[in-house]
Amino acid sequence: MTTIASKHVLVTGGASGLGRGLALRCAALGATVSVLDLNEAGAEEAAATAAAQGAGTAAGYGCDVGDREQVVDVAGRVREAAGPVDILVNNAGVVSGRALLELTDEQIEQTFRVNTLALFWVTRAFLPAMIERAGGHIVVVASAAGLIGTPRETDYAASKHAAVGFTEALRLELRRSAPTLRTTTVCPFYIDTGMFAGVKTRFPRLLPILREDDVVEAIIDAVHFDKPMVVLPWMVRTLPAMRLLPVSAFDRLAELFGLAAAMNEFRGRDATASPSAFGSVGAPV
Ligand SMILES: NC(=O)c1ccc[n+]([C@@H]2O[C@H](COP(=O)([O-])OP(=O)(O)OC[C@H]3O[C@@H](n4cnc5c(N)ncnc54)[C@H](OP(=O)(O)O)[C@@H]3O)[C@@H](O)[C@H]2O)c1
Repeated sequence: MTTIASKHVLVTGGASGLGRGLALRCAALGATVSVLDLNEAGAEEAAATAAAQGAGTAAGYGCDVGDREQVVDVAGRVREAAGPVDILVNNAGVVSGRALLELTDEQIEQTFRVNTLALFWVTRAFLPAMIERAGGHIVVVASAAGLIGTPRETDYAASKHAAVGFTEALRLELRRSAPTLRTTTVCPFYIDTGMFAGVKTRFPRLLPILREDDVVEAIIDAVHFDKPMVVLPWMVRTLPAMRLLPVSAFDRLAELFGLAAAMNEFRGRDATASPSAFGSVGAPV
């Protein structure tokens, strides 16, 4: 069991959405929180709100987690300000939402820089101190797209499959070399943060658009109880069984569940004026 109170929690991509929610929740539980984000003002605002609400202290840092040198530099400043990190939440992520031939080369590279390569730079910056102290928990916010590929997500799904593979390999590596350390891979279906504004689900009872607060609580619970995997909602957990079907039958099921058309009206965060602008949940696709 990992307690969060009085621990040092670092959250990447903590200026908005899930990361901000996690930073605030961890601070409320009494953690010292460090927030990293491309958006420095947003990171500072999230940290100030977290500190105001929580028992611990919080600080925000501007950092492009896809940039190795920036990560090394900020890791030094974080350690100096708040000591070694106990719970690392690799949460920063980006999505393009375009079909393969509509993606720019830069979008493809950026998706892998943030969703995949950043996991290496950030984890390698904080893992040695965890090993040295024989304690720590590494959370990787991947996605259900790390378990199944759907249209308009070639770059995103590939980067999130890599995130799932990264965390699984790391888990098994640490099992041998640092057995007191813990990892959690998080694979949620779409969440109402605005990152995927415009997506639709055909069967909202089976595959609901998740509420940010519920995903935050599920991650907190996973850290508390050392759960290695969080897959939400439960329907997504049936994927391994569905993969026993012939590929053509699996593809027909994916079509039936509306997954092939879920991104048809994707707008993404840039076009999100407010949470209410989120795509109509449950509309048939
Ligand atoms: N929303 C969903 O439906 C969903 C579903 C499954 C998994 N996820 C995953 O959950 C995580 C959080 O997503 P979210 O929905 O909370 O999205 P979000 O609200 O857009 O938050 C992502 C945060 O990451 C930051 N970021 C982007 N690029 C960065 C970089 N290079 N360096 C540092 N920070 C960077 C963003 O900053 P800027 O705003 O300044 O760009 C933003 O604050 C992501 O990894 C996402 O892939 C989301």
